[in-house]
Amino acid sequence: MADKTVPLLRALAGDRRIPPPIWLMRQAGRYLPEYREIRRGATNFLDLCFTPELAIEVTLQPIRRFAMDAAILFSDILVIPHALGQKVEFVEGTGPVLEPIRTLDEIRALSASAVHERLAPVYETVRGVAAELPDDVALIGFAGAPWTVATYMVEGGTSRNFATVKRWAYGASDEFAELIDLLVDSTADYLIEQVRNGARVIQLFDTWAGALHEDALARWCLEPTVEIARRVKAADPDVRVIAFPRGAATLYARYARAEGIDGLGIDHTLERAWAKTELQPHCTVQGNLDPIALLAGGDHMRDQAEAILDSFADGPFVFNLGHGILPETPPDNVARLIDIVRGQDR
Ligand code: CP3
Repeated sequence: MADKTVPLLRALAGDRRIPPPIWLMRQAGRYLPEYREIRRGATNFLDLCFTPELAIEVTLQPIRRFAMDAAILFSDILVIPHALGQKVEFVEGTGPVLEPIRTLDEIRALSASAVHERLAPVYETVRGVAAELPDDVALIGFAGAPWTVATYMVEGGTSRNFATVKRWAYGASDEFAELIDLLVDSTADYLIEQVRNGARVIQLFDTWAGALHEDALARWCLEPTVEIARRVKAADPDVRVIAFPRGAATLYARYARAEGIDGLGIDHTLERAWAKTELQPHCTVQGNLDPIALLAGGDHMRDQAEAILDSFADGPFVFNLGHGILPETPPDNVARLIDIVRGQDR
C-alpha cells in the first residue's frame, strides 16, 4: 500500500490536503446502535476488547457507516494496567474501577513479563482489521500516555482533582518515576507490536495532561511521550505518531517542536489562530470541533466546522473533534459533519 494513496498518511507527512482527512476520537462506541448490539452480547467491556472477532467488527463499524479516512483500533487505554497485573473493572454507569497503586512496593509488584501474552488478542485484532480495511483507509493503533494511565492506576478510577497522583508526582518524584518508566517500557513495547501487526499510525492519548503545571507537564507528559515515539520509530521509521495532550494550552507549542511527533491533536479550548501560527508550521494539526457541537448539530455545527476548515486550510491538517465523541450523539450528525468537511453538504 503506497502512502500516496492514503490521505491520513499524506497529511501526517506534512501535505496540505483539501478536503482534509477526517476521523473522530472514540468513533467506535455507544452512539452507534450496531455497537450497542454487539456490546450487549459481551459479558463485560474488557472481554469485548479481548475478543478479536468482535473487536474487529466494532473497529470497522464506523468505517462502513461513514467512510472515514482512518479506523482506530477498538481497545482501551486501561488494558496496559490490566496487562501489568493490576485489577481493572469497567462498572456500568460508573466507568473504570481499579485497585489503586499507592506505594513503591505496589509499583514493584507490577510486572511487564506477561504484557505481550495478555495483549495478544489486541495484536490479533490489529491484524484482522488491517486485512479488511480499504487501501486508502489508515489503521491507527493507540495507547494512553503514561501520565494519563498513571492517574487511573493511582486514583483508582476517574478523578476530580487528581490530588493523590499529583501529590505522589510532586512529593516523591523518584518513586513516581518508577511507575512512569514502567509505563514507558510497556507502552512502547505494546505499540511496537501494534505496528508490527499492521498499524501505520499511533496516537498517544494524554487526556489529563492539563491537570499538571508547566514543569510537571514537561516531565511527566512531554518527556515520556517523546521517548515512546523515539522507541516506536526506532523499530519502524515509517510509522507516524500523533500526540494528544489535552488541555496543554500554550505548552502545545513544545510538543509541536519535539522530535518524533508528526501530528498534534488539539482540544477545542485552544485558540485556532494561535494554533495556526504556533503549531501548524512545525507539525500536522488535528482537531478540534467541540464534541457538544457535534451532538447539537444544526447551523452551529456547520459554522464551527467551516471555521475550523478555514483556520487550518493553509497547512497540514486532519479534521477531528477536540475530545471523544459522546454517547448521546446522533449518528446522522456525524454523517452530515463528514459531508461538510468533504464539501458535499447540501
Ligand atoms: O476511539 C475509538 O473508537 C476506539 C476505542 C477507545 C475506547 N477508549 C473504547 C471505550 C479509545 C481510543 C479509548 C481511549 C480512552 N479510554 C481514553 C482516552 C480518550 C478519552 O476519551 O479521553 C480514556 C481516558 C479511557 C478510559 C475509559 N474507558 C473511561 C474513562 C471509560 C468510561 C467512560 C466511557 O467513556 O464510557 C472507558 C470505557 C470505554 N472505552 C468505552 C468504550 C467504547 C465504553 C464502555 C462500554 O461500551 O461499555
